[in-house]
Amino acid sequence: LELKGRRILISGASRGLGRELALQCSRAGGEVIAVARNEKDLESLKREIEATSEAPAPEIYPCDLTDPEKTVEVLGRALPIDVAVFNAGVKYGEDGFFSSKRILETMEVNLLAVVRTLNLLLPSMMERNSGHLVFISSLGGYHGMIRANGYNASKAALSILADSLRMDLLSSGKNIAVTVVKPGLIQTEMLASTGPRFLAVSKEKAARIILKGILKEKEEIAFPKPMHLLSIAVSLLPKRWGWRLFRRVKP
Ligand SMILES: NC(=O)c1ccc[n+]([C@@H]2O[C@H](COP(=O)([O-])OP(=O)(O)OC[C@H]3O[C@@H](n4cnc5c(N)ncnc54)[C@H](OP(=O)(O)O)[C@@H]3O)[C@@H](O)[C@H]2O)c1
Repeated sequence: LELKGRRILISGASRGLGRELALQCSRAGGEVIAVARNEKDLESLKREIEATSEAPAPEIYPCDLTDPEKTVEVLGRALPIDVAVFNAGVKYGEDGFFSSKRILETMEVNLLAVVRTLNLLLPSMMERNSGHLVFISSLGGYHGMIRANGYNASKAALSILADSLRMDLLSSGKNIAVTVVKPGLIQTEMLASTGPRFLAVSKEKAARIILKGILKEKEEIAFPKPMHLLSIAVSLLPKRWGWRLFRRVKP
């Protein structure tokens, strides 16, 4: 896959991993379409791309992706899209053991907004019989975790949704690739507010790994490797062992 001349939609491009992906995609020649709520941050991204890259200026669309009407309006203007990176996400450090409000908010952004966006993007990709869908999930989707009930459940659902979609696309003979990205910890504001920082990779490194995988049209990009293996092991171990491991984690 070559990014030059391709229209790449990146949700959550105002900061963190999404912003860094936008910068690296445009340096690779891609035409970035950046979506997030914070207009000022999107404008600052646009200025930085204009100053540092030969690629066309990015299109920026301020939009709350949990607002279905606004999403329809914005994506209607942004089509056609060649590569869609579903990166926008939220994680709340749970202060109590259960908060339906927090879980519903998390599901809205991390899962339901993705479904709504897919509903708008897929028909045009199917018609053109080309496209690439990239889902930024998490190693957290492999297992339950203390103080992450809504987040880990949303990422488990997102990974399974993407894997199932890939099978449906393959069985219908469509030339649309699906990549699931499962990072461990990345040094961004999300991590600063909810988690331990050791073992975390920089957002620059994470974006490089992800971009390399996208260019190879990999089905899964999971990193760092030791954490990926640990996540698989935890998901296979007796549940009691997972509890023993994670009760030490104090976000
Ligand atoms: N950081 C980690 O350790 C880590 C690990 C594994 C996976 N991930 C995943 O990587 C992705 C990026 O995370 P990050 O660490 O870069 O987080 P971040 O720094 O908190 O950035 C989150 C991005 O999502 C956008 N966003 C949130 N709610 C939105 C909404 N309703 N509508 C539109 N955009 C919205 C935010 O933009 P606005 O506020 O401007 O809307 C922001 O650009 C997420 O899916 C996250 O779950 C992160």
